[in-house]
Amino acid sequence: MSNDMTLVLGATGKTGRRVAARLRLNGTPVRAASRTSPVRFDWSDPGGWDAALDGVTAAYVVPPAVPGPVHEFVARAAASGVRRLVLLSGRGADTWGESTFGLDMRSAEDAVRGSELEWTVLRASNFDQNFDEDLFHAPLVAGALALPAGTVPEPFIDVEDVADAAAAVLGQPGRHAGRVYELTGPRGLTFAEAVELISRASGLPIAYKQVSPAEYAAALVEEGWDETGAHHVAEMFVLMERGKLAGTTDDVAAVLGRTPRTFEDYAVRAAAAGAWLP
Ligand SMILES: NC(=O)c1ccc[n+]([C@@H]2O[C@H](COP(=O)([O-])OP(=O)(O)OC[C@H]3O[C@@H](n4cnc5c(N)ncnc54)[C@H](OP(=O)(O)O)[C@@H]3O)[C@@H](O)[C@H]2O)c1
Repeated sequence: MSNDMTLVLGATGKTGRRVAARLRLNGTPVRAASRTSPVRFDWSDPGGWDAALDGVTAAYVVPPAVPGPVHEFVARAAASGVRRLVLLSGRGADTWGESTFGLDMRSAEDAVRGSELEWTVLRASNFDQNFDEDLFHAPLVAGALALPAGTVPEPFIDVEDVADAAAAVLGQPGRHAGRVYELTGPRGLTFAEAVELISRASGLPIAYKQVSPAEYAAALVEEGWDETGAHHVAEMFVLMERGKLAGTTDDVAAVLGRTPRTFEDYAVRAAAAGAWLP
């Protein structure tokens, strides 16, 4: 446990709310912030940042959806007395090259890794919880998930493990300084295999359908996404198809001293909670 007042950004999101709960349970003082949290924090409104940072010595940072703001945030944090930052990022962010995917996360990494503060970056593979708390949920409930995911496996990680890792790093000052952890699940699964496991655990007839990146981007636009955002999400699948992000790592064990949770474990928990019921 740490006595640092810890600012948790993205506090209503998939990782932030789990990180905040773990820290509170450990007795760490937490300031949970986002646009809709009681402590308001908006990446597009730097005028409100100093109040959120007041008295804070460590922060869990979920990057904003656009490149840029984290540079100013890091400067403000340092000036306000923050000593440690833990940043969420994406698997293999240094291998994405010319892709337009993840410019937001790469900008946030540049800001955090270039700072004088003690920092740790948690680069996570695709989350299991994308299937019940995010983008893939509605298509699964409707009975079919259509993606340009192909046959390259993805080592999906359970967000509970990401949150365990973030809480562990935040609770162990000095131990993870300057480290970049590539957090993966215990094995790779294709999206078709992941959907099959969800279908089996839920007892619901859910299908996986292969589409092209262009078809996927067009479908997202039809759902109301703007062209740029839809293209960026489709680009993620083009990146994954290269295979560089498909392998597993031992970094969950390096941080937590145990193996990561399985996708089967996730699918059973979410199915039991009724996640995919129509
Ligand atoms: N999904 C994946 O598989 C995956 C894998 C690796 C990395 N990532 C990265 O993880 C990040 C998302 O993390 P997450 O999944 O924990 O969060 P999330 O579930 O996507 O939720 C986003 C959080 O950010 C807050 N937020 C949104 N816009 C904001 C703004 N303008 N100012 C301040 N806060 C804002 C939201 O709360 P309010 O609405 O209350 O503001 C919410 O708490 C992204 O950078 C993504 O690229 C995702």
